[in-house]
Amino acid sequence: MDPYSRVLQRVLTSTSGIMSKEPELLVGKGRLYDVILRLKATEKTCIMLATTAGTIKRGTLSLFFEELEHAGIKVVVFDKVMPDPTVECVEEMAALYNDEECEAMVAVGGGSVIDSAKAALARVVKPHRSIAKLKGILNVRHPIPDLYAVPTTAGTGSEATAAAVITDTVDGVHYKYAISDPFLIPRYAVLDPELTVSLSPDMTATSGFDALTHAVEAYTNLYASARVKQMSLAAVKLIFENLEQAWEHGDDREARENMLRGSYYAGVAFTNNFVGYVHAVAHAIGGIYDLPHGRTVAILLPYVMEQYGSTIHGKLAELAAAAGLVPAEQEMPEEEAAKLFLTEIRRMENAMGIPDKVEQLETKDYPEIIKRAIAEANPTYPVPVIWKKKDFQMLLDKVKPSEGDDR
Ligand SMILES: [Fe+2]
Repeated sequence: MDPYSRVLQRVLTSTSGIMSKEPELLVGKGRLYDVILRLKATEKTCIMLATTAGTIKRGTLSLFFEELEHAGIKVVVFDKVMPDPTVECVEEMAALYNDEECEAMVAVGGGSVIDSAKAALARVVKPHRSIAKLKGILNVRHPIPDLYAVPTTAGTGSEATAAAVITDTVDGVHYKYAISDPFLIPRYAVLDPELTVSLSPDMTATSGFDALTHAVEAYTNLYASARVKQMSLAAVKLIFENLEQAWEHGDDREARENMLRGSYYAGVAFTNNFVGYVHAVAHAIGGIYDLPHGRTVAILLPYVMEQYGSTIHGKLAELAAAAGLVPAEQEMPEEEAAKLFLTEIRRMENAMGIPDKVEQLETKDYPEIIKRAIAEANPTYPVPVIWKKKDFQMLLDKVKPSEGDDR
């Protein structure tokens, strides 16, 4: 273990705890319309609405637009956000925001929409700093205009976090990096289940496991504050109780709302205590093979937790209890409860059609994957055990389909 890394991690986790504020929550069916009341109360007359072309086409927001018009609020729509938003997209959004003299931003979408809205607002308040110069930690250092984050998936937790992940292209190579600053935490998080009922079962599952991973990584990392623990435990409970129901019965508003809450709580947890090697490796693998984030973290989660070993058995046992897997009156050894927790994650993933191997993984790419994962995680993520190259190699061997495996 590198002692310098641990000192830095301690400083980063305690400062993020001190500096982070949390958004004001608007939770429940139809709460999207409360955004209009808040806009009126804060005397906004022109706003930008960032979303995807699909959301506009499906007419999800038609009534919302009508109500905004009735309220006399001009809406500038930016609907060009694509998955993995690029620097160009962010720049175009920021330029339109400035040209139209918008006064607030309403971002309706998944993590890509909310992240690009955060990055665009960072550019609005930092007109002379490129996105590349804003990347990293604490480079915005200025309040952004009011951001209403309205998630349409329950997974990324972006509505609660201080980070925006942007894709940049340098010499033809794609890089994903984060701009991370407490000033990017949205002022409002609007958790309206009406906006997630039409999410496909596959997206429901993969985004739900992304949220679960945020909670589990924040909890098992070192230095988790009381708030981080409380948020992680609440998230794990909600996700275990509601994910399969939301996956199977997409129109169950209660399950959808609970998943939105779980995802939000997990977002609060990881924005204060980071994620770990599941995310670091998933970002590397996802970047190289162009794989969806939620599915990749779902596959990796049980393997990484297993490989951390006995150090985290106690914490996993606590998560198992929060998940309702250990009856309160029953004494269960920590190791057994920890195993039960990971077995149940695998059972749920299997039931929802998530594979247990990364089909595309090739041995020749190990060095690049390991290099990227180490660069991302060490030294900032306060992971329970600091891994060396051979540990990553061991993990990759486990998630690579074996020869003759016809997955
Ligand atoms: Fe994630």
